[in-house]
Amino acid sequence: MGVNVTEAVNGISVIVCDSADDASKTTAELIANQLGQKPNSVLGLATGGTPLKTYQYLIEFNQSGRVSFRDATTFNLDEYIGLTGDHPQSYRSFMNEHLFSNVDIPIDQTYVPDGSTSNIDQHCRDYEALITDHGGIDLQLLGIGHNGHIAFNEPGSDSQSATRLVDLAANTIEQNSRFFDSPSEVPRQAITMGIATILKAKTIVLLATGSGKSDAVRAMLYGDIGPQMPASFLREHPNAIVVLDAAAAEGLPLNSAAS
Ligand code: PGA
Repeated sequence: MGVNVTEAVNGISVIVCDSADDASKTTAELIANQLGQKPNSVLGLATGGTPLKTYQYLIEFNQSGRVSFRDATTFNLDEYIGLTGDHPQSYRSFMNEHLFSNVDIPIDQTYVPDGSTSNIDQHCRDYEALITDHGGIDLQLLGIGHNGHIAFNEPGSDSQSATRLVDLAANTIEQNSRFFDSPSEVPRQAITMGIATILKAKTIVLLATGSGKSDAVRAMLYGDIGPQMPASFLREHPNAIVVLDAAAAEGLPLNSAAS
């Protein structure tokens, strides 16, 4: 692993790593350290292509005895509307496959919104209450969309938003169609934690890798803070960390570059 460079940028700690692999391992280590300090941590978790390698590292750390999830509780950011948890493209299936079934977490300590609920508004209120009942999220893992979304808080989402039903942006549907047989199969709506839900986490770790994310990363760190760029609200959080590979950090006016 190369030397990672950490720099404070507009209130965010930015860690630039040589490669996506290094960035994923660094992110896994932040999560492992959280669990080491507080074994019954409440973790906020994310889906998508970005965190896959981080989850692989966490599985390795768990299987080698370095970290345990036995006393942890997890809350996922979002879920597609209309998919039951056992649908292969549901985020519940994603989490079971890529993390939960491979580590020592009891499955009843893992929460993902239910995209097949018959009462969406009540379910969203219950999800918020459940997070609060567990003492709030200690560490929230995030990715970032090409359009700057965090979870499914698309551009236009305000900083006071809570867990709710949202319409997905056209470019999100297009991006996520790679996981489905055709774009027409991608759900058009989702339940997502809100910006306010995310900002209540004690620590936030956003991971972005690949050159496709560099424009969104630059706008998050240096552009205006506001609903047009939901990830920019992380700059109002007291303990937000952004982990990047060199490609996602490309073009950033950092004082130093990854070695
Ligand atoms: P990705 O999605 O990890 O699949 O790129 C990230 C996101 O949309 O938040």
